[in-house]
Amino acid sequence: MEMHIALVPGDGIGPDIVRSAVRVLDRTADRFGHSISYREIDAGGISIDRYGRPLTEDALESAAESDAVLLGAVGGPKWDHMPGSLRPEKALLGLRSGLGLFCNLRPARIYPELAAASPLKQSVISGGVDLVVVRELTGGIYFGEKGRSEDGGSAYDVMSYSKAEIERIARKAFEAARLRRRRVTVVDKANVLETSRLWRETVSAIATSYSDVELDFMYVDNASMQLVRDPRHFDVLLTENMFGDILSDEASMITGSIGMLASASLRDDAFGMYEPIHGSAPDIAGRDLANPIATILSAAMMLRYSFSLEKEAKAIEDAVEAALADGVRTKDIASEGEEYVGTQACCSEIIRRIG
Ligand code: IPM
Ligand code: MG
Repeated sequence: MEMHIALVPGDGIGPDIVRSAVRVLDRTADRFGHSISYREIDAGGISIDRYGRPLTEDALESAAESDAVLLGAVGGPKWDHMPGSLRPEKALLGLRSGLGLFCNLRPARIYPELAAASPLKQSVISGGVDLVVVRELTGGIYFGEKGRSEDGGSAYDVMSYSKAEIERIARKAFEAARLRRRRVTVVDKANVLETSRLWRETVSAIATSYSDVELDFMYVDNASMQLVRDPRHFDVLLTENMFGDILSDEASMITGSIGMLASASLRDDAFGMYEPIHGSAPDIAGRDLANPIATILSAAMMLRYSFSLEKEAKAIEDAVEAALADGVRTKDIASEGEEYVGTQACCSEIIRRIG
């Protein structure tokens, strides 16, 4: 197969970890007889520095012409003073909405070898936590009308959802559940918000076509509590954009190893954007210290979702697990006193295990 991949290294450790993922992709393509071409795209702080804007039309177009996008991370203190519309994060939002990526999958699982890194008691996580947050990504309060009153003394951000927006993300969640433990928990604030009530109605109607999947509903405040009280309850958490933003950070913390978590942003065709869920960690940029695993696992998700290369995706995931089992650690996941390796050495250990 021939794959055309757009790389968006971005800022901070972005270039370090994207380089690792490319090495892994190249090795995997070699081993399974595929060919990959890459084009590099500037977005985020680097684009602000070069073109005065976080995301140019050209960059968006170039991403849209590829089969899939692999993104490192954007942002850093250097651009923190920029006004809202010119912040590096705008590049992410622009890519998501410009490419129509309404479905964000954020799996959080505890690797047995790293269980000790979880801040939760072992009795709470024993037996393993394995959940995925399915976050609506192009609607809700993030993209609703926003503004200030004329005198600047009040501000507003509108949260609105259409039935169609809810239906399409709900279907994705049920489909995801079918490949897992067949349970969907809708997280909302239906005791207060009208949008949440529409979510409940709409998801319940869609659920009739997925009677093999168990469905429950939970208020977001309770869900944030249950996530730390009994994370094993959850299989698929389906939720709107901002709740998903918050809960996916909480879910990632449960695993104790944010440097390991990948994500996919999808739409209804095969196109997708893949990125680690961690940030750009500017303090360790360019120092060969970053954990490349989240980006490497994002590349595996890319092979699975955008190219239907299940065997190849699995080969990468197995190689990561084997490396972990053999004690390969980057600094962030090493326990005290344990030896660790740098970004590229960690990557080489994984590549070696791809065969
Ligand atoms: C995320 C991030 C973004 C979001 C920011 C950087 C705009 O927190 O991907 O979760 O809020 O969606
Ligand atoms: Mg976030």
